[in-house]
Amino acid sequence: MSKLPNIGTTIFTTMSKLAADSGAINLSQGFPNFPVDPKLISILKEQVDENVHQYMPMAGSPSLLTQVSALIEKNYTRKVSPSEELLITAGATQAIFTTILALVNKGDEVIILDPSYDCYEPAIILAGGIPIRISLNEDFLPNWDVIEKSVNQSTRMIITNNPHNPSGRVWAASDMEKLETLVKKNDRLLVLSDEVYEFISFESKHLSAHESSVLRDRSVVVSSFGKTFHITGWKIGYAVAPESLMEEIKKVHQFNVFSVNSVAQAALAKYLEHTDVTELGAFYKEKRDLFRNLMRSSRFKLLPCEGTYFQTVDYSAISQLDDVEFCKQLTTEYGVAAIPISVFNADGDDRKIIRFCFAKDEQTLIQATERLCKI
Ligand SMILES: Cc1ncc(COP(=O)(O)O)c(C=O)c1O
Repeated sequence: MSKLPNIGTTIFTTMSKLAADSGAINLSQGFPNFPVDPKLISILKEQVDENVHQYMPMAGSPSLLTQVSALIEKNYTRKVSPSEELLITAGATQAIFTTILALVNKGDEVIILDPSYDCYEPAIILAGGIPIRISLNEDFLPNWDVIEKSVNQSTRMIITNNPHNPSGRVWAASDMEKLETLVKKNDRLLVLSDEVYEFISFESKHLSAHESSVLRDRSVVVSSFGKTFHITGWKIGYAVAPESLMEEIKKVHQFNVFSVNSVAQAALAKYLEHTDVTELGAFYKEKRDLFRNLMRSSRFKLLPCEGTYFQTVDYSAISQLDDVEFCKQLTTEYGVAAIPISVFNADGDDRKIIRFCFAKDEQTLIQATERLCKI
């Protein structure tokens, strides 16, 4: 009997394949199509000639752990013990999976806010937990009344994602305060704070669980070098948690991956010595503004985009097809692939909203929007 009977091929694989088969411009899956920083590539090449080809220590290379801890201190003024509170992982996906497996027991409830990233629920089910999926408001921000009413003695965890994929919304200070209140009121409740787009916010800096004295003692914060350095294929990220939680996470990690790719760790440790991640927001803001300006003459309604590299649009003025069918039509007939939002909802709720990824070079964005403006 399947342990995950309802899981098929992900929408990202499906849409990317359809885009390739139809020769469409792929604005569906969230990955950049522009070159990586040449400095990172030259450091990577140098590192290949060094003796960095054997197993690294289980939790991560000491130099990378030190660099990441410095990065967190610089950006969030949080002091993290590199040896006790930090874990280098094979991408945020593994950090999330390993955290859930380590901290969620059979029968524990875990709150997920929909539309939600697709790797949360399977991990909860495999851990024997019960996913409790709660819809975000129409504006894709949390409905704290509903969330509060859903927390009970069995609730072990709430998974938050800020800046948010797929909507591109960024939480306000009041949302962080509500989360703090929830955590304070419920002793058993932990937060899995998925912050993979932490350095991609525009008008205002995203607020991190790292910065809250209430949240940081009860949270596992997950980050992704894939998103921060345009290297999604390297599959490397990290998790930060208080020592007592991290001890349990490491127990699972050591039999799940043991240690992460040594060459990538060595290269990133060196690269972090020279890199300023705070430039990332401005870099993507330019792309967001270009994409939004180019889309102004289209019949798509642009929804707010405050962070991430995703732009959601309402297409109800163009078509009444459901969002999955509309995305297929968009790909095969108009040559641009996008992601339907309904697949991120437990109930498949279709609000005629789709997501474009603007982490693409200028030429790609110009060509794609020319096609979209003709519809
Ligand atoms: C919200 C969110 N969490 C986690 C991940 C996974 O990150 P990684 O590629 O580092 O595993 C992604 C990737 O798209 C994401 O959008």
